[in-house]
Amino acid sequence: MHDEITKGWPDSSLRAFGPEKVRWLSRTGSTNDDLLESLRSGEAGHLDLVVADYQETGRGRRGDRWEAPPGKNLLFSFALSLDGDRTTWSRLPHLTAWILGRVVESILPGETVQAKWPNDLLLHGKKLAGILVETILTPEPFAVVGIGLNVNVKGEEFPPELAAIATSLYQHLECESSRPFLLGLVLREFLSAYPNKLTTFDPVREWLEERSYLKGKQLRLETASGIIAGTGRGLGGSGELTVESGDGILHTIISAEKIEIASE
Ligand code: BTN
Repeated sequence: MHDEITKGWPDSSLRAFGPEKVRWLSRTGSTNDDLLESLRSGEAGHLDLVVADYQETGRGRRGDRWEAPPGKNLLFSFALSLDGDRTTWSRLPHLTAWILGRVVESILPGETVQAKWPNDLLLHGKKLAGILVETILTPEPFAVVGIGLNVNVKGEEFPPELAAIATSLYQHLECESSRPFLLGLVLREFLSAYPNKLTTFDPVREWLEERSYLKGKQLRLETASGIIAGTGRGLGGSGELTVESGDGILHTIISAEKIEIASE
């Protein structure tokens, strides 16, 4: 099974994600939940990987559901041991968007992804991928990086509520892609970028800001400290969203419950 999954993987991914590290499930609840549970019980550790063909209770951020038809998309989670400077940990979701975005651009020549803060990837304004990073502190600090990348799903296969707002690689390549091959590429990029790019974060921030979907748009954000309305200005040093309100004040947003775009 491991041979089948890892066919065509770069050497570095093959070495780090050996058979004992990889679980590819035909069906599960949520790969993030599976891995969080294994980490909590001490059965999993750094670089354990769970991939699923189908998730019954796939989760997005803020409790949203993440829906994908069976066997079409890449749905996976892997564990990263968190150490070093704690103040850089909040950069991990942004680093993930950078890694995934660069992989996508490498296989879609001439296309530029849009990075919708905090960590969605869009193509031509439609959602291509979602990222859910969750952390635990005990028994040891770990992050679970969960990625849903729309790979081979065709227009009519999206659930009706997503058809107008989601896209897939298939819709741009007009052919199917190998999910295991793509997975190997993403993992290779993580192996070379983590954790070093959390501290040398400026190129990551700049890349994301150049592709920022919210920059220049009129926004209304629900945050823990209240409603903030203004123009998206870019990203702060750790990937925070900066928004300029009508009175000229620049707000630095770490997280938001809800983001509304005036023109959408
Ligand atoms: C979002 O856009 O809100 C984030 C979506 C993240 C979905 C992925 S699919 C694999 C992993 N398992 C989950 O339950 N969620 C993430």
